[in-house]
Amino acid sequence: MKTLSSLSQEDLQDKRVLMRVDFNVPIFEGKISDDTRMQAALEDIFFILDKGAALILCSHLGRPSGQGFEEEFSLKPVAEHLASLVGAPVHYVGDIIGEDAQAAAGQLHAGEILLLENLRFDPGEKKNDEDFARALAALADVYVNDAFAVSHRAHASVCKVTDFIDSYAGFLLEKEVITLQKMLSEVEKPYVAVLGGSKVSDKVGVISSLMKTCDAILIGGAMCFTFMKALGYETGKSLVEEEWLDKSLQMLDDAKSFGCKIILPVDFIYAEAFEKDAKPYISEDQAIPANMMGLDIGPKSSELFADVLAQAQTIFWNGPMGVFEFESFAEGTRAVAQAIANNKDAYSVIGGGDSVAAISLFDLADQYSFVSTGGGASMQLIEGKVLPGVQAIQE
Ligand code: 3PG
Repeated sequence: MKTLSSLSQEDLQDKRVLMRVDFNVPIFEGKISDDTRMQAALEDIFFILDKGAALILCSHLGRPSGQGFEEEFSLKPVAEHLASLVGAPVHYVGDIIGEDAQAAAGQLHAGEILLLENLRFDPGEKKNDEDFARALAALADVYVNDAFAVSHRAHASVCKVTDFIDSYAGFLLEKEVITLQKMLSEVEKPYVAVLGGSKVSDKVGVISSLMKTCDAILIGGAMCFTFMKALGYETGKSLVEEEWLDKSLQMLDDAKSFGCKIILPVDFIYAEAFEKDAKPYISEDQAIPANMMGLDIGPKSSELFADVLAQAQTIFWNGPMGVFEFESFAEGTRAVAQAIANNKDAYSVIGGGDSVAAISLFDLADQYSFVSTGGGASMQLIEGKVLPGVQAIQE
């Protein structure tokens, strides 16, 4: 993989660099409510500007229809926020590859930044379209992919574009790939993974991959109810994926053969409905009454998980233990987040939008060794897959 760090002043002076970033950030009432992904791109931005290049940034935001401009998904507020982060003006053009974008790119001076409009306003982006990619590449001399979080998508600005321009991996992309790939092999033992979230079907690949290296996998979140039901426990109205019951039993067996213990909760917090103000009850054991649904792991489970995490030298976490957005069902996720933060000897990596949002909410993000900016992208790497955006740079 050719990396940005290999480029010198000579390579970049007075060049135009097109950098794909993932500025798919939450925006509330026109303001960026979490700029973690933008902060993560700053190292690359300053590196490129310091080397005397003009920088053209491109990104997607949300999931627009792909039929042209939609105000709600415009990157204009992102350009304004970026200007405050870099302490310099950021030119914004409401265009991607058209005449306005070409003119703005052509007029850009060394040391200046231009942000193009949302790539997904053009139907060519998601189709990995050749003409769209060629036009994008024509805006610059050098291309950098620093959008790790979207590199699992074979889209024009991450894949096809590399056919038409000298292409490099940015610092963030490089760091993410190296760190997450290490979690599949070169780790200090004991190695413990914590997995949660709603569906076991989303995590089958991750569990199958992690069981080969982990000593233990702790499973919480609604996905654990498919395992509980497969093992014969009463799960009430909890979310169960009936079609994955057999596969869940099979995974428990497979894990054993790799010497990996899959540890399930021993109690739960349950309620009558999936509602913020629903009355929480603590179960005595693993069983959930018929008219109730499990919404968090219980206190004995939190303690059990915390004990296992305290012994670990390496920890990977993806997915909350319960509905942490509702205070009555946040305790399991908080306990796991705190247990990982408390283990100062362990190397801890967290990936996935919900669990990262949880540690930010609990103000613990700075206590983790590595916080991935990727949701789907980090999961695919942990599954052992090669990301299309990474492959495109290697080819
Ligand atoms: C993400 O938020 O995970 C990335 O920006 C990718 O977004 P997408 O799932 O809409 O492709």
